[in-house]
Amino acid sequence: MKEELLSLEKEVSQKVDAVQDLKDLAEIKVYVFGKNGVITNLSKGMRDVEPNQRKEVGMLINDLRNKLENKIQEKEKLLEEKLLNEKLESEKIDITQPGKDCKVGALHPTSDVIDKLTDICVNMGFSVVEGPEIETDYYNFEAMNIPKNHPSRDMQDTFFITNEILLRSQTSAVQAREMEKRKPPFKIVCPGKTYRNDSDATHSPVFHQLEGLVVDENISMADLKSMLLTLMKRLYGEDTVIRFRPSFFPFTEPSIEVDLTCPTCHGKGCSICKGTGMLELLGAGIVNPKVLEMSGIDSKKYRGFAFGFGLDRAGMLLNNISNIKSLFKNDIRFLEQMKGER
Ligand code: PHE
Repeated sequence: MKEELLSLEKEVSQKVDAVQDLKDLAEIKVYVFGKNGVITNLSKGMRDVEPNQRKEVGMLINDLRNKLENKIQEKEKLLEEKLLNEKLESEKIDITQPGKDCKVGALHPTSDVIDKLTDICVNMGFSVVEGPEIETDYYNFEAMNIPKNHPSRDMQDTFFITNEILLRSQTSAVQAREMEKRKPPFKIVCPGKTYRNDSDATHSPVFHQLEGLVVDENISMADLKSMLLTLMKRLYGEDTVIRFRPSFFPFTEPSIEVDLTCPTCHGKGCSICKGTGMLELLGAGIVNPKVLEMSGIDSKKYRGFAFGFGLDRAGMLLNNISNIKSLFKNDIRFLEQMKGER
């Protein structure tokens, strides 16, 4: 019996020594301790051992079980360590390698100015709204007091899709849409794309405007002036001065055009403002009572002011861009320059 146990110990020890991975070791475990394992069978065989020898044989088997268990455990630890080391070695990160360059984008100057202006307006209590770019003749013109064949339609070279459908030529088209929906008092701004058949260094057939509309009781030109001055100062700096010039829009009466001190030279005169120190940036005025009435607002009780900004122009001034076409070319070299400017 003793010899049998010794040779078993030797056999298993050799197998354990020779094993190279955990999977094979697991097989040995089954061979030794499994349901039909050699040790398990030895224990089962105890039944047949003479009672006076049972104690001794039992101790021998226990002894062998402990020895083999330890042996296998040690090997298991060793193999696990080996596996971990291999893993660490293969997944090693070379921290001395230079990092990969990660491209950082920049906001397009027009998006940037839209963000800035709408932020300023929201802080002044305006709600931001949107309207369709494909618009009806009614909202773009008629509801703005520009009937068919009115000469002022010539001011805007419009892209017509059909007789009644067009690409909106001004964000003023949202004025009537909002007036029909809302009850005064309200303050809205609408940034968005507008389209006109016009193309040179300062005009693009697609451009962006920001429309503002305030309707309340007792609105006056003074409200418009102070609001626009605050807006301009927040956008272009505290030293900005604005100037009102009389103008004409069918939907405002009186109408004005607003100039501001050139943000590039701060009023001294430079190539951007052609030496005048001032730049024209928007149209505005007191909403024509006819426009209020057409959209169902009582013009005896309420008055309004409205303004319309050229956003591309506003963004060009913020970033010293001289040709509007650069805004729409998507030339990566141009867009790269917008980084770090803000
Ligand atoms: N819609 C006018 C334009 O595009 C600008 C404007 C808006 C003027 C609101 C007055 C009031 O030229």
